Amino acid sequence: MTTPATTSLKWGFIGSGKMAGALVRGMIRAGTAEPGSITVSDPLEAARASLAIETGATAAVDNRVVAAASDVIVLAVKPQSMGGVLKELQPLLTNDHLVISIAAGISIDALAAGLGPEARRIVRVMPNTPALLGEGASGYCLGPAARSSDDEIVRSCLDAVGRSFCVPERLLDAVTGLSGSGPAFVYMMIEALSDGGVRVGLPRDIATALAAQTLLGAAKMVLETGLHPGQLKDQVTSPGGTTIAGLHAMERAGIRAGLMDAVQAATNRATELGRG
Ligand SMILES: NC(=O)c1ccc[n+]([C@@H]2O[C@H](COP(=O)([O-])OP(=O)(O)OC[C@H]3O[C@@H](n4cnc5c(N)ncnc54)[C@H](OP(=O)(O)O)[C@@H]3O)[C@@H](O)[C@H]2O)c1
Repeated sequence: MTTPATTSLKWGFIGSGKMAGALVRGMIRAGTAEPGSITVSDPLEAARASLAIETGATAAVDNRVVAAASDVIVLAVKPQSMGGVLKELQPLLTNDHLVISIAAGISIDALAAGLGPEARRIVRVMPNTPALLGEGASGYCLGPAARSSDDEIVRSCLDAVGRSFCVPERLLDAVTGLSGSGPAFVYMMIEALSDGGVRVGLPRDIATALAAQTLLGAAKMVLETGLHPGQLKDQVTSPGGTTIAGLHAMERAGIRAGLMDAVQAATNRATELGRG
């Protein structure tokens, strides 16, 4: 969602790694921001310079330069680097800045404590790796002092690399368990489907491509038709046919419960790590 209000903003990225790169590229591609309105920093010269050269953004050696140049500051460093970054930015940030953190497991309270009382507009995001290809799924939560217009700003960034959903903070662990860890669950499903294809005689490369394209196609059917997955399943399941035979085998193997358990286990682990 890009509007004149969001395109006139100046964006700063602290950390120029994989996720920051995906967001910067996506925002420029989507017209959310002009390259000249984006500043990126990173202690690693190669990281900040290559992102800047590739995208036309400005590279800054010092995180404080990013803070001074930006309306929206995206904290895109690993969780273990966040303490130092917050300490460095704390004297510079005010309520004129919107701070968006994509670091896993760091709560809005912890961000607010690190940023101090002057910078209260905080958004916490849980993205996932397909954002690198513009097909991400993100959950985000606005902090209590965020303005209603901040929702539009954060979505202009996240929707440039996929789809985003606003949830209460207590559900961000569930987002981590479903869409954060989910790509790995799906990779395992693709691998297993490919193994099945090889078992019935297909060459490995064709089996893997068929499996991955089938998941992509089925996902698009769900998203683009808006039909319930069960309804789509019924549409391809003829009486006494091949698909119902396969579905019966899946039910016997407990695939549904296995996937539900995977989301539950990953969510529980996210909660445990967040407490630590
Ligand atoms: N990748 C994912 O799928 C994913 C999914 C969900 C959430 N996230 C979150 O997204 C954040 C970024 O992940 P990523 O995969 O993009 O990590 P990354 O590729 O390692 O990028 C982080 C970058 O920040 C730099 N950095 C470290 N300390 C800094 C400082 N004080 N000031 C400025 N930059 C600093 C790092 O430099 P050095 O290498 O020199 O330390 C690194 O280049 C993480 O907090 C992660 O939890 C990632």
